[in-house]
Amino acid sequence: MISQHTIEQILSRIDVIDIVGSFVKLKKRGTNYLGLCPFHNEKTPSFTVSPAKEIYKCFGCGKSGNSISFLMEHEKYSYVEALRWLANRYNVEIEETETSPAYKEAQQKADSLYIINNFAQKFFSDMLLNTEEGQDIALSYLKERGFNDAVIEKFQLGYCSRQRDAFAKAAAEAQYNPEFLLKSGLVVTRDEQLVDNYRDRIIFPVHNQTGKIIGFGARIIGKNDRAPKYINTPENEIYIKSKILYGSYFARQAIDRADECLLVEGYTDVISLHQAGIENVVASGGTSLTPDQLRLVKKYTNNLTIIYDGDSAGIKAALRGLDLALEEGLNVQLVLIPDKEDPDSYVKKVGNEAFRNFIAQNKKDVVLFQLEVSLKDAGNDSVKKSAVVNRIAETISRLNKAEDFTKQQDYIRQCAGLLHIDEAGLNALVNKFIRDRVTKQENKAQAAELNARPENAESTPGITEDETLSLLNKDELVERNITRALLEFGTYDWGEEQKVYDYILSEFDSNSLHELFDNKQMLLIIETYKTWVQNGVDPSPKSFLYHENIELSTLVVGLMDTRYELSHNWKEHYDGPMPTREELYREEVASTLNYLKLRKIKRLIDENQRDLEKLHSPEEQLTLLQTHQHLKQLEIELIRNQGAVIFK
Ligand code: UTP
Ligand code: MN
Repeated sequence: MISQHTIEQILSRIDVIDIVGSFVKLKKRGTNYLGLCPFHNEKTPSFTVSPAKEIYKCFGCGKSGNSISFLMEHEKYSYVEALRWLANRYNVEIEETETSPAYKEAQQKADSLYIINNFAQKFFSDMLLNTEEGQDIALSYLKERGFNDAVIEKFQLGYCSRQRDAFAKAAAEAQYNPEFLLKSGLVVTRDEQLVDNYRDRIIFPVHNQTGKIIGFGARIIGKNDRAPKYINTPENEIYIKSKILYGSYFARQAIDRADECLLVEGYTDVISLHQAGIENVVASGGTSLTPDQLRLVKKYTNNLTIIYDGDSAGIKAALRGLDLALEEGLNVQLVLIPDKEDPDSYVKKVGNEAFRNFIAQNKKDVVLFQLEVSLKDAGNDSVKKSAVVNRIAETISRLNKAEDFTKQQDYIRQCAGLLHIDEAGLNALVNKFIRDRVTKQENKAQAAELNARPENAESTPGITEDETLSLLNKDELVERNITRALLEFGTYDWGEEQKVYDYILSEFDSNSLHELFDNKQMLLIIETYKTWVQNGVDPSPKSFLYHENIELSTLVVGLMDTRYELSHNWKEHYDGPMPTREELYREEVASTLNYLKLRKIKRLIDENQRDLEKLHSPEEQLTLLQTHQHLKQLEIELIRNQGAVIFK
């Protein structure tokens, strides 16, 4: 366990803009920052980060939280992993109390692998640059291929010696654990001995987003048909192939600037393009793109340009990920490099400028490209041709979001043209695919709902979707509003000797809280607040923000009003000062509290009314009528109060 002291140190250094900003492109907008929500597909930004409140909130999908919950949600970290990430980021030394054995083990495994990889990278680089064998065999090969010193250093290239176990020996000497050495893929067992797995190969370290080395690609030197060209790190705790885009660590900023990500096949393509000054480039390793890889691209840009050589087998693989890419709302273009060249050789041949021009002029929309290829394949075979039509309709149907509508219509027109078929017919076919999918999803959702209902009916931890829905319910709004007023303005002055929270909480005292609040979560917030006040603490939204109960903190974040800060610019267009919520806090407190009471009175009146409808003795009837009158009187007063608050 991480000590409380460490947690406090971490929390005091948290900068939500810095943290969220390292995963999402943010632009300053008024006092807030705005970006494309990483949790749902969108084209216009509705993801807001408030540095003042230290929270983020998406007005599109409703996701909200603090820096820690962001890391948990986005990076799929646990609470403790998120803290460790932050500690590392802000150079806070972690003081441990005690740790769960399972976590400790997983963490140690990952750490051991990183440490071994780091050691290996240094060893291999040293071998490449500073030994005779490395220079003669490997460095000369790299130089011959045209790689310069700077780029060799930047990508931390290396060489694994011809000897059986040069690395294995060094690692054993440095006392690395054999179990992890095997797991890392750097060594293998031969005749009960550890020997090097990448013997006589050029070493390409593979970095993750943060620049840590997660594995290696090891290329044979020159040509040799009897051995595999590359040996790659096997899947392990840190090397998860489906999540890796080679070069992404070096490309992030350039992708951001260019608003375009180039995708190539291989290690050497990435490195050559870098050397030529084209840095917005990553490689997929020649396999089809996975959802994780597409999401990674989408964090930086919506424009993906695939650059492959014309006769690469990799194109087919790349195109297999296409439907997914379209669904993610990516614009995918394709460029084929001519004449048996690949991006690596081509950029070396023609240089930066000609390469860029070639890409710009030969970009082809990938959907149309795919259609052309499969039409060629189908030839005159009408069965194959009809399969092509179906396939393309299915692909186009993936462009299913409102904002993609024009693009979809363009595709239908162009594809109908290429296929020589009726546009309306293709349109109908596309719609059929959309309908089918929607029906399927609906059935699935219904089934899920049926399954979920019975056992979940009682428990309401966290902010569930049901809860979000019921928030639309007016009754709930009343409870939310008073809770928010308490959270935001609780510590402000109410009277000479009284704070807002004194006032609100005293009003609650006379009524039972449980009667006033239906929503258990609001109740929990109010009660927590009350406990803090009773213990002499002045609570603020921030006290909740990093509350150890992450559900409670998410709930509070959900209540915070960031939308209002967004309208700062709008305010400036008005003559004279517009009162802010901040300035009107007394009114807000009085009014929200009033609403809550009013609701209660209304409920009592209803109850009384129902009672009246039953059969009673004349005395009972009289009492009920008097109660009714009394309640009505109270209601009138409250409404009058409300009017005073509103119209003052
Ligand atoms: P390439 O054969 O194009 O390799 O395969 P390359 O990296 O461009 O190397 P050069 O230019 O021929 O020297 C493209 C990618 O496919 C994966 C590697 O990730 C490689 O970078 N690959 C290829 C393998 O994993 N194993 C192989 O045997 C071949
Ligand atoms: Mn190549």
